[in-house]
Amino acid sequence: MTQPSRYIKILDTTLRDGEQTPGVSLTLENKIEIAQQLNKLGVDVIEAGFPSSSEGERKVVKEIKKIGLTSQICALSRCTRKDIDAALDCDVDLIHIFIPTSPVQMKYAVNMTPEQVLSSATESIQYIKKCGVKCEFSPMDATRTEMPFLRQICKAAQDAGMNSLNIPDTVGCMIPRTIFELFKELKSFIKVPISVHCHNDFGLAVANSLAAVEAGADQIHVAVNGLGERAGNAALEEVVTTLHVVYDYKTNINTRLLYSTSRLVSSLSGVSVQVNKAIVGENAFAHESGIHTRGVTEQPLTFEPISPEIVGRTRKLVAGKLAGTRGIQVELNEIGIHPNETQLTEIVQRVKELGDKGKAVTDADLIAITSAVMGQVIGKEKIVDLCDMAVITGIKVIPTASVRLTIDGKEYVASETGVGPVDAVLKAIQKLTGNIEKIKLSEYRLEAITGGSNAVAEVIIKVEDEKGNIFSARATREDIVMASVEAMIDGINKCLLKNRNKGKKQ
Ligand code: KIV
Ligand code: ZN
Repeated sequence: MTQPSRYIKILDTTLRDGEQTPGVSLTLENKIEIAQQLNKLGVDVIEAGFPSSSEGERKVVKEIKKIGLTSQICALSRCTRKDIDAALDCDVDLIHIFIPTSPVQMKYAVNMTPEQVLSSATESIQYIKKCGVKCEFSPMDATRTEMPFLRQICKAAQDAGMNSLNIPDTVGCMIPRTIFELFKELKSFIKVPISVHCHNDFGLAVANSLAAVEAGADQIHVAVNGLGERAGNAALEEVVTTLHVVYDYKTNINTRLLYSTSRLVSSLSGVSVQVNKAIVGENAFAHESGIHTRGVTEQPLTFEPISPEIVGRTRKLVAGKLAGTRGIQVELNEIGIHPNETQLTEIVQRVKELGDKGKAVTDADLIAITSAVMGQVIGKEKIVDLCDMAVITGIKVIPTASVRLTIDGKEYVASETGVGPVDAVLKAIQKLTGNIEKIKLSEYRLEAITGGSNAVAEVIIKVEDEKGNIFSARATREDIVMASVEAMIDGINKCLLKNRNKGKKQ
């Protein structure tokens, strides 16, 4: 029997719990940019911050509220007058208050008795409601709270007028079955909407959030790329895609913006996304082995559960030791190279040999092998070419670079400053090429091949176009700046050439 489709609300806490990711610190401008993107994405509620934690944080929440986004703006607060007043001062739509309720946290985190916790929670809810603001109440560490006390405090919070209840699995200790049972029990006496807030300590945050939804949860707290305390929160992109595709439930999220949102948060937070992460990882829609590449080029459903476009991605066929002829042929055809059958067999053979030596086969390696096999220089067609460059660096000068490039044969000059000469020169290149296509550097790796101050350095970079297609390139030189420039220009050319070739095919 098919279940009627349900609407599940999404509260995004990237700017609050997400920022609690160790090592992450976002500026006001970063947070505003992320809030605008979350709004475009369609999240129902943005938890913008914890106003009482610092003056800066209060300013962030105020500024985000002032933009006038469609998403509701929520502020986090402890159950104290000072915290609540700081949240009220930000004029938010919703205040999310929390207080520990598990024995271990009541004793060691706040040193309060259950009676004190109970009265503090109810007084805080009543105060917020008296001020005319909506309130979501979280019994923190709910999933390690003794059930009679959890029942008691949730009922008291309901009587005090909370608008919604949130159940945090603060240390991620639930499994789908136990959280399902907990939500079933809560749904039997809580009449307001219930949210679920799962942490990923055992890698179960998404599964637990979905189990809570199966038991009746109305809203899920998530963070982009699964950012958050310790192992993080339930990942927005995984939760939403599963709700849409597997459950056939509705959310307000425009899934086509999931990948660009993930990239934005990754670049601003400095937390890279693991390559094999579901939905947004570099390999989530990449295929290498022969049987897979043949399958997906004939019929994508053979090895893809969804079309990558649904989440704003494109499919990628990768050369490697498991690669098949069909995948490599498609990859080469996409950049305008058409080897004959014998040449193709030889190219595949050499790619496999390289892979067998334990080497990751980059786009550059595939082009080099193909050039050798076809006996002609290919892939050297350039849209962008370097004419000249100069860098200045020192103790008292800001590292500055000027570059002169030709783009489609026409000359352009730009200068940029940076944290160092490499940063400055790569920014100057991107400034010029940005006029034809926004291509940004998504990864930069420097390896010394030989020792000593005249060591040969290998620079390996990845660049990314606006659709999230990633291209790798490498260059080897004694001069790190020159190696970086060569790799960058090579990566940009690959990207531009591929996109132009695609354009021609249509
Ligand atoms: O994980 C947690 O318990 C929290 C609370 C502040 C709700 O983030
Ligand atoms: Zn949390």
